[in-house]
Amino acid sequence: MKTFEVKAKVEELKYDELNSKELELVRLAKEATSRSYAPYSNFRVGAAILLSNGEIITGANQENAAYPSGTCAERSACYYAGATYPDAKFEAIAIAARGTDGEFVDEPCSPCGACRQALLQYELLAGKGVKTLLVGRDRIYRLESIRSILPFAFTEF
Ligand code: THU
Repeated sequence: MKTFEVKAKVEELKYDELNSKELELVRLAKEATSRSYAPYSNFRVGAAILLSNGEIITGANQENAAYPSGTCAERSACYYAGATYPDAKFEAIAIAARGTDGEFVDEPCSPCGACRQALLQYELLAGKGVKTLLVGRDRIYRLESIRSILPFAFTEF
């Protein structure tokens, strides 16, 4: 038998350790939480995606009375980006969330499995890792790719 480990490299940074482009993406992801429609969970998530054409697309979770019909912030942003600029590559994404108390979460919110799979598709189209910034109240987790948090991803058939 052979065993191997799968590891994810995560950099934990303070806000003042981010460069100005990263800070702007984080700011826009936080701002996007205000456009969340989350009457059921009251958990407001925002995502901001930087594209290779310089555009930044934001999204927020949109819930629905038929619960599974709602969608997460990450997928609302990535599908909107893909549908608006089909030729642009994803460069980076920031994800921020506010809890039921309305405050930004302390522990950075990380994308659900379905969103990781959806984002991975655009990462594969980009041909390189999509820098991922998970936003907490006082710290940011920085990942080099979506793939790093989706080991054994389904990529082709
Ligand atoms: N949600 C997101 O938008 N992104 C995540 O990464 C995690 C969860 C949303 C889905 C639902 O509207 C609410 O947060 C509570 O799960």
